[in-house]
Amino acid sequence: MSVAAKYNRMSAVYDLMESPMEFFFYSKWRKEALSGLKGMVLEVGVGTGKNLKYYPEDCSVMAIDNSEGMLEKAREKGKGMKNVTLLLMDAEHLEFPDNSFDYVITTFVLCSIPDPIKALREMKRVLKPEGEMINLEHMRSNNRWIAAYEDFINPISVALTGINVNRKTVENIGKAGFNIKDVKNLAFKDIFRKIRSKQ
Ligand SMILES: C[S@@+](CC[C@H](N)C(=O)[O-])C[C@H]1O[C@@H](n2cnc3c(N)ncnc32)[C@H](O)[C@@H]1O
Repeated sequence: MSVAAKYNRMSAVYDLMESPMEFFFYSKWRKEALSGLKGMVLEVGVGTGKNLKYYPEDCSVMAIDNSEGMLEKAREKGKGMKNVTLLLMDAEHLEFPDNSFDYVITTFVLCSIPDPIKALREMKRVLKPEGEMINLEHMRSNNRWIAAYEDFINPISVALTGINVNRKTVENIGKAGFNIKDVKNLAFKDIFRKIRSKQ
């Protein structure tokens, strides 16, 4: 089953499943990361649209996802938001010209995209030279005991949900050619991190 098909299947219960993490952590991280943005924003893997309410009204937000089920939920949350455009699109093949966006945003997405480095190269291509990428992501810990646990449960997580819990996301961002400016640990030691990068 493709990742998109897994998310289509999960879309009806996704917000409920995520609600404890959303309540205790994600909502405050989203607000802090997104509320100061300006200009043209690309959100990759918008999911059910949980970030949409945190973008300032004067940002123009293009938000893509390749799961029609998840996008359907995002359309409900984005109803009436004139600055938001939602599109069905694969992150590995972004249909935008080079140098289009002031910001590229991913939140809890680089764990699911089948080829994250390919998608990150696409994000770099569409980012303006002076633009910034901001990622809120979970990833493989640098602590060997936590990493061993993540490696152990990863096949189960991938089989059920398409989510990889042990990706080396900071390394992947570097491999895609980004210039990493800042990495901040957010929770559960270094599993959840905020990463800011330039072209
Ligand atoms: C864990 S959800 C996160 C959703 C949202 N960003 C959030 O913060 O709640 C991951 C999302 O990435 C999307 N996704 C996975 N692979 C993708 C791809 N190749 N292209 C576009 N979206 C993708 C999934 O459909 C899903 O909606």
